[in-house]
Amino acid sequence: MVKRSLPLPKVYGLLEPGPVLLLSTSHKGRANVMTLSWHTLLEFEPPLVGCVVSENDFSFSALRLTRQCVLNIPTLEMATQVVGCGNNSGRSVDKFATFGLTPQPASLVDAPLIVQCHANLECQVVDLRLMKRYNFFVLEVLKAWVDPSVKDPRTLHHRGYGRFMVAGETITLPSKMR
Ligand SMILES: Cc1cc2nc3c(=O)[nH]c(=O)nc-3n(C[C@H](O)[C@H](O)[C@H](O)COP(=O)(O)O)c2cc1C
Repeated sequence: MVKRSLPLPKVYGLLEPGPVLLLSTSHKGRANVMTLSWHTLLEFEPPLVGCVVSENDFSFSALRLTRQCVLNIPTLEMATQVVGCGNNSGRSVDKFATFGLTPQPASLVDAPLIVQCHANLECQVVDLRLMKRYNFFVLEVLKAWVDPSVKDPRTLHHRGYGRFMVAGETITLPSKMR
């Protein structure tokens, strides 16, 4: 097997865990949503999720100031909305209206759930220590919603530069990891 050298900016495409998420916030009565693929699990219970939200994103200050958001998990049918929410800023666009996303009030946070997503995680920011250095927010999932009719969600996994892998098959193996 002859391997070739991969340019370092492309490394993240190998490690990208996905699924690509839609992070919704609400600040001063204005709901917004951005596409997010840089996230990682930190703890089982309570579920903790770390995510990187650039300070250039309009969502950054909403998340920092309100300390609340919803992580919405879209599937393949929402691919157009996913890239639309990642290519446009809420500074100038109402992305809910533009991309036909339906907001629904969450139970524990002010940010809206996105109805079209098969799962929604209501989150609170619990640690900002790495925010200044890495734009890294630690979120605790307070409440989780799933559509029970979706068995094998066809989630999108970003491979970089506009390329996405699509999930959708579940296999069972004798893994010791819960
Ligand atoms: C597939 C994809 C994944 C993205 N992942 C992230 C991410 O993890 N963190 C981030 O800060 N921006 C990410 N972005 C870019 C933001 O979604 C983009 O800058 C968006 O316009 C921010 O919206 P806002 O200004 O309304 O907050 C991603 C974009 C795409 C298309």
